[in-house]
Amino acid sequence: MDVELKEVLTHIVQDSRLQAGFLAALSELENCGAKKIMRYQTRSNTDLSLLQHAAEEARHAYFFQKQACKLGVPMSSPWLDGRRRRYLDRLELFIARCLSSESSVATREGCYVLTTYYIEKRATWLYTCYEEVLAAYGAPFSLQSILREEVGHLDEMEQMKQKLGLSTEIKREIQDFELTLFTEWVSHMQDRLQEVLRERKKKAP
Ligand SMILES: [Fe+2]
Repeated sequence: MDVELKEVLTHIVQDSRLQAGFLAALSELENCGAKKIMRYQTRSNTDLSLLQHAAEEARHAYFFQKQACKLGVPMSSPWLDGRRRRYLDRLELFIARCLSSESSVATREGCYVLTTYYIEKRATWLYTCYEEVLAAYGAPFSLQSILREEVGHLDEMEQMKQKLGLSTEIKREIQDFELTLFTEWVSHMQDRLQEVLRERKKKAP
């Protein structure tokens, strides 16, 4: 997975249009995460950590969109289609189904903790790979501040996950499902990249 993703990212960072589309895709997913976190609040629940978490995810969405705009190219993104746009929804739904058989876990809290935990884990890994490729090609921006916040969220969610006391089996099922979602996304990006490269070859004089 590492190799496939880095190969796609290497093409992306060397091409403004591909990079703008990828940044816009990340912004969309971050924004979706921020909105989901806000939905776990109620009118009277203004838990500080939840507010901070939502605010930071919204800042990540802003950061990625701002970097995409700075490239000054059209931002149509080949990287997300309908299925990939529902990444977080699909994961959350799968987790809700798993938790429905665990009578000891409150579904709402469990969904928040687990969806966030597995997404943070993936985001930390993805952004670490992306950061390495960005640095290797001298990109004018860095993901260090975003990575610091994602690692902080991950630590917090890891502690909350421990308190849920879930079975190893359920944790493995969720982890495997998330890996399937991510593998599908990378495979989609590989296909789209090949299409873009083929189109360009055809147009080349
Ligand atoms: Fe984030």
